[in-house]
Amino acid sequence: RLHGYRAFSSKVAPKNYAFAFDIDGVLIKGKRTIPEAKRAIRMLNGDNAHGRHVPFVLLTNGGGVTEQAKAEQISNMLDVEISPDQVILSHSPMQALVEQYKNKNVLVVGGKDRECFHVAKKYGFNHVFIPDDIHHWQASVWPFRHPSRDSISPDAASLDFSKIPFGAVMVFHDSRDWGRDIQIMLDAICAENGVVGTQKGDCKVQEVPVYFSNTDIIWSTEFPVPRLAQGSFKMALENVYHTLTGTNLQSTSYGKPYPTTYAYAERVIERINDGKKPSRIYAVGDNPAADIKGANNYGWTSVLVRTGVFQEPGNSPHFPAHSVCQHVEEAVEWVLQQEE
Ligand code: G3P
Ligand code: MG
Repeated sequence: RLHGYRAFSSKVAPKNYAFAFDIDGVLIKGKRTIPEAKRAIRMLNGDNAHGRHVPFVLLTNGGGVTEQAKAEQISNMLDVEISPDQVILSHSPMQALVEQYKNKNVLVVGGKDRECFHVAKKYGFNHVFIPDDIHHWQASVWPFRHPSRDSISPDAASLDFSKIPFGAVMVFHDSRDWGRDIQIMLDAICAENGVVGTQKGDCKVQEVPVYFSNTDIIWSTEFPVPRLAQGSFKMALENVYHTLTGTNLQSTSYGKPYPTTYAYAERVIERINDGKKPSRIYAVGDNPAADIKGANNYGWTSVLVRTGVFQEPGNSPHFPAHSVCQHVEEAVEWVLQQEE
């Protein structure tokens, strides 16, 4: 049933361990809750043979909302109390960029309506704009549709983007309109001093830095086949940029599998664990290229489940996990057996 390849010591394992759960494909699939997830989380909240509470965080490459909103959503879906302190979204570690960009104009891409605008403001970025703002300014920026009515902000109408130089472009979540957003990102990246509507020669020297919060190529929803994720959007942008300029787009990425995200997650885990650093962190995930690769590289113990992106028998050939389980409840049981 289990395909663990690392033998754990039979000596008494330290009790100071913690979990980091992926969300999509492990706890939920789109609007549907994975039934075993409720039982798995209840076990960690003390409903186990030892009555022990085991600290855990949710470590997702999803986002587009505040940590608070995600905590509420998952609490409702799983019927358990999850605190915002336990939620790490793809863009949570990007708060480290606030110091550098708080007084610069930042173009924040992705997500629904103005949600990511609010997330970025909450993090402390003071001058945040979204592609819809630019589209409102001049409809000819993307003539194939009108800007969405939902996103109209009171001040968007009066903005003059010919006077607003962008200091950075940050993708916080999946684009809702790849064509329009690739166009507007290129406008900002290739512009003279980051002012859209100006073009800096052949755009060979990239002046405006670009950040991505998630490089997953695919993710798991209730649809039977995985869906394209933010990493696919990144590839599309890179391909167009390379075709137009003959050079590679430079960017920095956050989220799993990048070590910045794991370092951030360890600080969060320590905080919720009364300042103690756990001796072992178990990462439960469904995407080998993100969850398993990232956990293995950072020295965590990885558990791959078959409820999301990964569905095959055996282990992932490219990024083998320490253990493979059918679902998250089995994963928690396996860990408790190792540790208790
Ligand atoms: O956009 C969400 C996705 O790429 C993955 O979310 O929870 O599986 O890391 P998660
Ligand atoms: Mg997942």
